[in-house]
This record gives sequence, C-alpha cells and structure tokens, in this order.
Amino acid sequence: MSKNFRIALAGLGTVGGGVLHVLARNRELIEARAGCAIEVVAVSARDRAKAEALPLGNAEWVEGTASLATRADVDCVVELIGGAEGVAHELARTALQQGKHLVTANKALIARHGKALAEQAVDHRAQLAFEAAVAGGIPVLHALRTGLAGNDMLRVAGILNGTCNYILTAMQKEGREFDDVLAEAQAKGYAEADPSFDIDGIDAAHKLAILAALAYGMSPQMDTVHVEGIRHITQSDIRYACELGYRIRLLGIATQHKDGIAQRVVPCLVPADSPLGLTEGVFNAVQIEGDAVGRVLLQGRGAGAGPTASSVISDIIAIARGERWPAFTVANAALQQRAILPMNAHHCCFYLRLTVADEPGVLADVTRIFADEAISVRSIIQHTHDASTPAQVVVVTHETHEAAMQRALAKLDGLTRITQKPMMLRMETV
Ligand code: NDP
Ligand code: HSE
Repeated sequence: MSKNFRIALAGLGTVGGGVLHVLARNRELIEARAGCAIEVVAVSARDRAKAEALPLGNAEWVEGTASLATRADVDCVVELIGGAEGVAHELARTALQQGKHLVTANKALIARHGKALAEQAVDHRAQLAFEAAVAGGIPVLHALRTGLAGNDMLRVAGILNGTCNYILTAMQKEGREFDDVLAEAQAKGYAEADPSFDIDGIDAAHKLAILAALAYGMSPQMDTVHVEGIRHITQSDIRYACELGYRIRLLGIATQHKDGIAQRVVPCLVPADSPLGLTEGVFNAVQIEGDAVGRVLLQGRGAGAGPTASSVISDIIAIARGERWPAFTVANAALQQRAILPMNAHHCCFYLRLTVADEPGVLADVTRIFADEAISVRSIIQHTHDASTPAQVVVVTHETHEAAMQRALAKLDGLTRITQKPMMLRMETV
C-alpha cells in the first residue's frame, strides 16, 4: 500500500462523529478502495468533552481549529463545522492556499464562496470536494459530473431538505404539530444549527444553487434563487392537498429555458402517487432530466450521521486514490454567467385556500377578480361548517402565469370579506 492519506477533521458533531464511526467500522474496505491507509491525524471542535465518546484512534486533539489548515502532516482537511463565514470559511480558504485538499459538507459555504474556493484549489493544485453538501447520502453531484455528463440538463428538481420533508410527512401521516416535529428532527441530527435555514427554505436554496451550478456550468448564484419556506403550511392545507390527491413537498427546481435559468425553492402540491409525492420522512429525491437520458430519479436519506458520512467518505476515497475533477463540472475559466429568469415568468396551476365570510356574493367577488386576470378555475372545494366560523374555500386553477396570480392575490387582499391572508401554493408536475 502507498503512503498514508492524512486527514485533519474539523467539527465532531452529527456529521464529524458519523465520519469517524464509519471510518472505524469499514476501515479495511475503505482503505482497499482508496489504495492507501486513511489516517485521521488531528481533530478539532469547540468542546473537547463531547469528542471523548468518539473513535478517535491516534488522532491528536487540537485547540484552535483554524490551525489544522497549516499542519505539515495533513494532506486533506475535512470541514464539518458549518456556516458560510467564520471558522469554516477561514479554514477552507487557508487549507486550499496551503495546497491541502478540502472535503466539506457545508452547502452554505459552497453556495456563497464555491467559485473563489474552486479557483484557490486549482491555483494550489488541490481538490475541492463537496458531495455531502447536497442531498446527504445521495451521490447526486457525482451523477451530474460523470454518469450524466453527456446530457444537456433540461431540469433538476427535488426534495432537498430532509428536515422539511420529515416535518411535512409527520404532519400529514400523524396529524402532529409543526413545532413538535421540528424538535424531533433536531434531536435526530437532521436540522441545521439554526433550523430556520431548514424551514425557511434557505438550506434547500443553497443546495439548489450548487446543483444548478453543476448542471448548467455556472458558478452558484444563491441570491437569485426565489425562496419560500414551510412555516406557513397548516394542517388544513395538508388535509386539502390529500383530498385533491396531492402531497405538499418543499421542492428545489432549476430549469433551463431559451432565455435563461429559472431557480426556485417553494412548497408545492405534487401528485400523491408521483415519485416525489411518495418520498417521505428524511428521504430526499432528485429528478434530473437530460436531453439524451430523459428522467433519472435518485432517492435516499438526505440528512443524518450515516448518510452524510457516506458522501464525505466517498470524496475522501476519490481524492486519496488520485482522482481530480473540476469542482463545478467544467474548468473554472469556462463557468458561464447565465441569465436568471424572474419568478414572474413562471406559470403553473395554483392552489388557493381562502378564508371568507359565508355571505352571498363572496364567491362572485373572488371569481370576478380571477376573470379580470384571465385565471381559469379548475375546481372548488367548500365543506359545510359551523355557522359561527368563516368558511374555507379551496380553489384550484388551470395553468396560470405567476404575474397574473400575484395581481389577483393583491386584489383579493382588498376584499373585506376575505378574513385571512389567502394561502397560495403552486402545483408542480413531477
Ligand atoms: P453539528 O452542530 O452537529 O456539529 C458541528 C461541529 O462543529 C461540532 O463539533 C461543533 O463543536 C463544531 N463547531 C461549531 N462551531 C465551531 C467553531 N467556531 N470552532 C470549532 N468548531 C466548531 O453540525 P452537523 O454535523 O449537523 O453539520 C456539520 C456540517 O455538515 C454543516 O455544514 C451542515 O450543514 C452539514 N450537513 C449536515 C447534515 C446533517 O444531517 N446534520 C447533512 C449534510 C450536511 P462543539 O459541538 O464542540 O460545539
Ligand atoms: N439540515 C439539512 C436537511 C441537512 O435537513 O436536509 C442535510 O443537508
């Protein structure tokens, strides 16, 4: 066997701990595949006491995480701290400048600084690898870079956040409340350090920006992703979606059009029997549509110690065996600036839940607004209800432009007999 591949591991939480456990458990086969011994020479985090239960082997505990990047006895820094700035960014930048390979699961870092880090990697003949940053244990970046590389990618769409999918599924299947399920997802190690990144769609947007970068040969453009989260989804919406034959999922979707790329992260209704409708719990699913291959679906656990460690270790093995690749599929100099389409250019069917005073003429007011905006109604649900409470009316439209729907929503806002802000969700064909 050739010389050891020496790793410094920064961050010993859910993912860092998972990496140490899987390395210890599968050492023999991992080293056979890497073609060399994988040696964790140093580890660092904030609290040494938490590290004591981990299989650290002969790794040295280091105070001052940033110093891992400058050690002479390290070939590869594995950054599993998190955050786009601060220690994680400093460590990543310094490691690459020192010519050390960098493996990270940090989607915030890659979505924000991926291009600059990729340039530093090339300048210093190091590899930048981030398979674990998107869709946990699913090797989707590898698939885009290798197995699907012959395709013009028409669309990349999927469930990219395990925490949100876990919450939406438990709300639907068990009738549980949002906050209660979020706490459980946190306890299982699925959620980000700040869970608002999960539930407000930011984490999925980081991942979508990375996926779109690889699919379309551009640097990640996080600030142009239209982002909505799932905080406002209620049990009522989940029940109405089921009644209509749908499930609610937080989707990240990037599509290529003649005049640019559309990128959005939005909670949507998807058919209950579709692959994404059937994807439940912490599972993620990514559907890639290429011009030659058609649709390919990759599904697996999108968060948690084991699945994420699986992706981190796949990067470590690839680098240890000498593989090198352009971080975003094409050489940095070939990364293009693509036009990003505004959300208003989107069109789809819409679900609207309106809370209205149950009086004559209310529906006429609503349908007049729709008619003025050329929005055609596909179906309406109104159940009998207690006379003392407002009525819930659910409207499903035919395909409509986003701009028209936004104008209609603004007009609905002016109707005094609509007693709550309307709930609007898009419906996606997946
Ligand atoms: P955790 O919060 O479980 O672990 C973070 C680790 O980083 C802890 O060991 C913590 O130390 C350490 N740390 C935090 N701040 C500092 C600092 N300033 N200096 C030194 N060490 C620090 O996070 P995860 O393991 O869940 O996530 C790690 C990364 O992996 C993130 O980028 C995340 O987005 C990504 N990721 C996570 C997945 C998951 O399922 N959890 C899945 C895919 C990616 P201490 O505990 O001592 O405070
Ligand atoms: N918080 C993320 C999720 C972790 O729930 O999907 C995996 O990236």
